[in-house]
Amino acid sequence: MSKTHWDNLYASKKPTEVSWHQTHLEKSLELIRATGVNEFARIIDVGGGASTLVDDLLATGFRNVTVLDIASAAIRNARARLGKRADDVTWLEADITRVDLPAHHYDLWHDRAVFHFLTDADDRRRYLEAVNHTVKSGGHVIVATFGPHGPRQCSGLDIVRYAPESLQREFGADYRLVQTLTEDHVTPAGKHQEFIYCYCRKS
Ligand SMILES: C[S@@+](CC[C@H](N)C(=O)[O-])C[C@H]1O[C@@H](n2cnc3c(N)ncnc32)[C@H](O)[C@@H]1O
Repeated sequence: MSKTHWDNLYASKKPTEVSWHQTHLEKSLELIRATGVNEFARIIDVGGGASTLVDDLLATGFRNVTVLDIASAAIRNARARLGKRADDVTWLEADITRVDLPAHHYDLWHDRAVFHFLTDADDRRRYLEAVNHTVKSGGHVIVATFGPHGPRQCSGLDIVRYAPESLQREFGADYRLVQTLTEDHVTPAGKHQEFIYCYCRKS
């Protein structure tokens, strides 16, 4: 997946204009609450973009939040929005299929609308290796993708659609499906998109 594509996108659109924009990532927050992790939990938002999830996590009291994104423009935007509070966050500009993350480090992995861009099996394998490597045993993995009735493309790129069960199967038997949600996301342009959320617990 091209970094240039994402840098250009964030340079040409306001964060509130992108199709995946939500004022608050309500479903993600609902599932993060459902995990029961405490304020010291190490949380990584993979492909966090310019989303406000990090603002809401800080406001909830979480102290160890990392936002990773391939697009420097997205990270710049989120940092600027947070102002001084940005110093309380770890920012990683990286490709999740190439990054070297610390072993057994994170309590909670969150990804909304990134995994589904991985149409190449090798990229999916590398992503899953990163999850296996960096999420602690007993950790929580929350991933949202377009659902079976969702669009076939996003941002001009092909995506893979998943049902919660098929998404869990990608992760494998070490990841027990705990909870799933479906969302009728309405884009800033008024289009409806089906998202599914899959919350799994690593054994
Ligand atoms: C559809 S947006 C979703 C943003 C955010 N998660 C949200 O829900 O608002 C996908 C994000 O993933 C980032 N991204 C795409 N491919 C990536 C990769 N290989 N590694 C890390 N980030 C990536 C993009 O820059 C973009 O910010």
